[in-house]
Amino acid sequence: MTALRTLAFLSLIGFSTSQTSDCSYYSLLNYLNMTASNSVLQIMRPVKSWTNSTLVQLDMFLLGILEVEEKSQTITTHIWLYMSWTNEFLTWNSSDFCGIEEITLPKSLLWIPDVRINEDVSDTGSIQESLLVTVNSSGWMYMSGRQRLTYTCCLDLMMFPFDTQSCNITFSTMSLNEKTIKLGTFNSDEVLNKVSAEAMVTMGEWDLKSLITFNGPRARNRLRYMVTMERKPMLYVINLIVPLFFFLILDLASFFISEARGEKLSFKVTILLSISVLLLILQDMLPSTEKSLPMIAMYCVGVFALVGISVLEAMLVTFLIDLDCYCGKKAQSSVNASEDIQLQMGDVTESAEAEERGQAKEDRCYLPDHRDLLKLILDELRAVREEAGRQYKENKKRGCYRRLAEITDHVFFVLYFSASALFLAFMYLVWIAKVI
Ligand SMILES: *[C@@H]1O[C@H](CO)[C@@H](O)[C@H](O)[C@H]1NC(C)=O
Ligand SMILES: *[C@@H]1O[C@H](CO)[C@@H](O)[C@H](O)[C@H]1NC(C)=O
Ligand SMILES: *[C@@H]1O[C@H](CO)[C@@H](O)[C@H](O)[C@H]1NC(C)=O
Ligand SMILES: *[C@@H]1O[C@H](CO)[C@@H](O)[C@H](O)[C@H]1NC(C)=O
Ligand SMILES: *[C@@H]1O[C@H](CO)[C@@H](O)[C@H](O)[C@H]1NC(C)=O
Repeated sequence: MTALRTLAFLSLIGFSTSQTSDCSYYSLLNYLNMTASNSVLQIMRPVKSWTNSTLVQLDMFLLGILEVEEKSQTITTHIWLYMSWTNEFLTWNSSDFCGIEEITLPKSLLWIPDVRINEDVSDTGSIQESLLVTVNSSGWMYMSGRQRLTYTCCLDLMMFPFDTQSCNITFSTMSLNEKTIKLGTFNSDEVLNKVSAEAMVTMGEWDLKSLITFNGPRARNRLRYMVTMERKPMLYVINLIVPLFFFLILDLASFFISEARGEKLSFKVTILLSISVLLLILQDMLPSTEKSLPMIAMYCVGVFALVGISVLEAMLVTFLIDLDCYCGKKAQSSVNASEDIQLQMGDVTESAEAEERGQAKEDRCYLPDHRDLLKLILDELRAVREEAGRQYKENKKRGCYRRLAEITDHVFFVLYFSASALFLAFMYLVWIAKVI
């Protein structure tokens, strides 16, 4: 009786050891029929009834925003993809296999959903994903991979550099229809946002605002992520907006430079050249979308036009002053010539008159010594008068153009100042209207 009992006890121990001793992966793989080549598992969508669809869960985390190309309208990011689905054939009871909970298998042996990103334009070779896929004992499979994803996005640059870009990344299956494969996420939006914010390595000049998933009930075979990010505008403010503003102020201030040596004109032309350098920088950044000109381009062109007009005005003023000098010289030479003739004529007539008068006076009182003296004084007086008249005429003619130049300058300054103020106010108002 006792012997029988010990036998039963021993057999129980033997049974339990045989249960727990099978700890190799081989037996599990054997049980799963993976030891021999089992091509059915590669070909077939792993469901027992074909009417049941396979739910593929796709989680995308953003690890970095590497580059945003405004010209080609593409965004390059570093993403981490996590894809999971269920294989109804690869299930086992973990207590039968020494507690093996999960096993990794080569992807090439199994059916993998072919999910692609619609907006993807990255070149191949930028995807780093594992060749293995992990299965747990309830047939739940997952794989993950990292990818340098370049995707297209219609960037709205109206408010550049104060812009916020919302771009969609759409996942869809290439070959299968809505009934067989459904796409969804594993984690909620909050978790995705939180993990992305923590895992984010570099964002460049951007700030990740949110990561929202759209999965409308109608189009379940598509999963759409909306990535919203905001540009950090500081560099562009320092590099473009403030310099342009200062150039405008400098141009306004240049009205106080004297025109005498043409310095004003060259100063203004220098400002114009500096603005065109900034325009070149801007041209390198922005695409030529004809539909809506970005506001910064309007601002640049506006400042350029204002300064250009003021250069033209400076040219006009310089021209008027040059004209003044030229006329002055011409007037001087003509006055000199006429004066000589007049003086000669005057001399002749004067002497004749004086002789007649002298003859008349000679009768009354004869003063031969004083007559010469008086004539001398008269000649002197005449010369002085002529000289004064000539100078007066000359001054009047020269001052005419100079005054015109001054008036033009003053009027233009007032107009220019108000036009600049109006322009800046207009830009500000348009900007405010766009922001609200
Ligand atoms: C493995 O193959 C055998 C025979 O073909 C079958 O009876 C068994 O159910 C298969 N195992 C699994 C896990 O599919
Ligand atoms: C199909 O899916 C339903 C629920 O979605 C489940 O109850 C049923 O067991 C599945 N059929 C098979 C054969 O797995
Ligand atoms: C797994 O096996 C153990 C013992 O063989 C059993 O008690 C348990 O119910 C099984 N679990 C499932 C899910 O079949
Ligand atoms: C397999 O993984 C899924 C997802 O994490 C989990 O829900 C399930 O409970 C796991 N199965 C086992 C047996 O651990
Ligand atoms: C992104 O997808 C959402 C939801 O479908 C849509 O409202 C939005 O217009 C899309 N944005 C772009 C830039 O295509």
